Amino acid sequence: MQTITIKDFEDWRRVARTLIANATAPSEVQLFEDDGQQALFTENPQPLPSPSDQPGFHVPSRFLSLAEAVGCHRAAARWDLLFRALWRIKNEQRNLLEIETDDDVLQLTKMEKQVRRDTHKMKAFVRFRKVVQDAEEFFVAWHQPDHRIVRRVAPFFSRRFSGMNWTILTPDESVTWDQQTLDYGRGVTRGQAPQSDELEELWRTYYASIFNPARVKIKMMKSEMPVRYWKNLPETELIPDLLADAPRRVEQMIERHEGFDKTADDFIKRSSDQVNTLPVLKQMAAGCTACHLHCEATQTVFGSGPANARIVLLGEQPGDQEDLAGDPFVGPAGQVLDDALHAAGLDRTALYVTNIVKHFKHTLISSPETSRPPRGKKRLHQKPNAREVRACRPWFDAEWSCLREAETLICLGATSATAILGPGIKLADKRGQVCSSDYCQQTFVTWHPSAILRAPNTAARESKMQQLIDDLALANEAV
Ligand code: URA
Ligand code: SF4
Repeated sequence: MQTITIKDFEDWRRVARTLIANATAPSEVQLFEDDGQQALFTENPQPLPSPSDQPGFHVPSRFLSLAEAVGCHRAAARWDLLFRALWRIKNEQRNLLEIETDDDVLQLTKMEKQVRRDTHKMKAFVRFRKVVQDAEEFFVAWHQPDHRIVRRVAPFFSRRFSGMNWTILTPDESVTWDQQTLDYGRGVTRGQAPQSDELEELWRTYYASIFNPARVKIKMMKSEMPVRYWKNLPETELIPDLLADAPRRVEQMIERHEGFDKTADDFIKRSSDQVNTLPVLKQMAAGCTACHLHCEATQTVFGSGPANARIVLLGEQPGDQEDLAGDPFVGPAGQVLDDALHAAGLDRTALYVTNIVKHFKHTLISSPETSRPPRGKKRLHQKPNAREVRACRPWFDAEWSCLREAETLICLGATSATAILGPGIKLADKRGQVCSSDYCQQTFVTWHPSAILRAPNTAARESKMQQLIDDLALANEAV
């Protein structure tokens, strides 16, 4: 029996590929967890197969995403279990994952779910505390995840809080973002969540310890080393890291140079001794001028509903009447929404209803019948663009982190669905099923109530309305 120590998911992937290429069966090998703290430049004890050794090594993408999640699970048996499943997919049953009653599949999907839930918890519950060091602001948080998810979640925080220096300390490992690069370091052992002052002290010790020459060298290499030299680096392990970093860097450049100078984040005051609540956020949002949409609108229309709502509805932006009233979904679209909620058996007062963009975007067209100011002009709704959504999104992020009991997120229409699930979402394809998003494991997308108002004829209107009702009822069942 061969025994191999596995350090992390990438390591498992390399080892598993070699074993499969050498026709080693799961019964001939045991994969052990390497739970020692790894120094950055330790040599990988496994022989690294070069990719050319294994032309055309393909696994179903579903397996890959499952394996990435299960790789973060704390159970020591995960590497063996994953290898057995991969071996079976390769040698016995390519559609293994579709056999839901299979013991391996059952166990893997259960572990995947646990990791996803833990991932969601970390995204939702990490709270930063501001620390000032050498006249610079740092934000520091302590979190104790159930599983080894720090590297899975860190890119999410680097996107959300790209303009802040932050560190998340956890018992397994810690991660620091300096507005450019994510750096992982050792964990900090704590029995329970440290109190504010302790946390600050813990971070200061950690901060001092990460400034050793090796880390500075890596940082410098990552930012300075031209791509053509990468292949000459002795530390080949760094290369996947650098490559993995590339898309995020591009995204960040876009955010910095093509976005608005400001985002809603600049208007969210974070204080170390007070957690923002929904009413406090609403007050802050009332003064938001991060993008030009506030200029032509009457007021910020913040979300409304109880902080303990389990279902959250996310629309696009306030309409004409919402802009005047200051509350979401109170105009004609709101009436359709109310009817659909009622038919789906949902009580609106128990839900949190909000929009991804908080100011009404419109253009003025001549319309003699209306007396609303400016006289003789009608305000015609305009879709917010990606930059406006990006500028406003931090308000929704902040709302979401207050909604501690939210279990289900329903996106109404393509604008919010795209903001939450990424570009290219087709409502007709994705509606009527559970999707998973950065925010919520149970994310649903459905028609915007305005789409029902705009339907070209009664038949189309009725069928869309029925679909909206069905989707709301489905989301309700999931709670
Ligand atoms: N449409 C929306 O998306 N939100 C509202 O609040 C009103 C209309
Ligand atoms: Fe701020 Fe959003 Fe209004 Fe823009 S639309 S000013 S980001 S609240």
